[in-house]
Amino acid sequence: MRPFDPDFDDARPAPRWALTSLEQVPPGGYPGGYVVRRQFTRQVDVFGYPLTLPTPLDVRLLYDPDGRLWMSDVPQERMMMFHNGQASRGHILVGGLGLALYPQYAAPAATEFTIVEASQAVIDIVTPTLGRALARLRRPVPWRVVHTDVAEFLARPRLAQYDTVFLDTWATLDAAQLPMVNRLRDLALDHIAPAGRLLLWGYRWMVGLYEQACAALLSVPPTGRAAWLAAQSPAAQTLLAPVATRFADLPAPDTEALAWCRDHIVRLTEG
Ligand SMILES: C[S@@+](CC[C@H](N)C(=O)[O-])C[C@H]1O[C@@H](n2cnc3c(N)ncnc32)[C@H](O)[C@@H]1O
Repeated sequence: MRPFDPDFDDARPAPRWALTSLEQVPPGGYPGGYVVRRQFTRQVDVFGYPLTLPTPLDVRLLYDPDGRLWMSDVPQERMMMFHNGQASRGHILVGGLGLALYPQYAAPAATEFTIVEASQAVIDIVTPTLGRALARLRRPVPWRVVHTDVAEFLARPRLAQYDTVFLDTWATLDAAQLPMVNRLRDLALDHIAPAGRLLLWGYRWMVGLYEQACAALLSVPPTGRAAWLAAQSPAAQTLLAPVATRFADLPAPDTEALAWCRDHIVRLTEG
């Protein structure tokens, strides 16, 4: 198997996600003005669809000092971490720590965690929770958190070869993130052990968004595409301009053009 499969889809329902009992960050105020709130929820949104849970779910929401919601462990997050956790094994390099959901889903087949996290606040707030979660395991799983930027970490000469690298440092699932994510992917591939695996949060979903945008562009009659593009965000214009140029004479999207779009966005790296 290739170390990275762009078609691995973690943005799909996971029927068994709720079976993992999670250690959660305790609610309350934290140094620096960070706040964790507890909320019981039954009506949730999962990959664009409403879902009613059989019983209220205790979720935690981390707010930054400006009162903005930063992270949460809502069902969609848990399902995505579940899929990535299920695909993980061995010595696992993680970027970043977040609310420490992923390591809990990955723990059954993990032998060691190295977690790279850029935010000292997240490290201070979340490592006690991670420590409690991993201490519950029947066998010891060594772990350490490295306080640094994951791109810098991956750009350094490798210290180890990891059986799994899981990266999830981008805040949103937006196709415009893909050139940056692809740069991290290319750096990370150098750190993968033979037969190891690289997993990137929401990758297939983001590629799908790009494919949809390409289809929308090519559905516009060729003479109207410049105006259509001009109405998009600057990031979308940059990403879609090569599609408009390459398929300027194509009257409507076809399989070949959409396959080209997919390959293009999977190859495109920033810088
Ligand atoms: C969405 S959260 C990760 C959620 C995590 N997978 C979990 O299971 O809870 C993103 C995390 O990456 C961290 N982060 C963002 N940019 C980073 C960077 N360049 N290097 C390292 N960590 C970063 C954030 O501080 C945050 O803790």
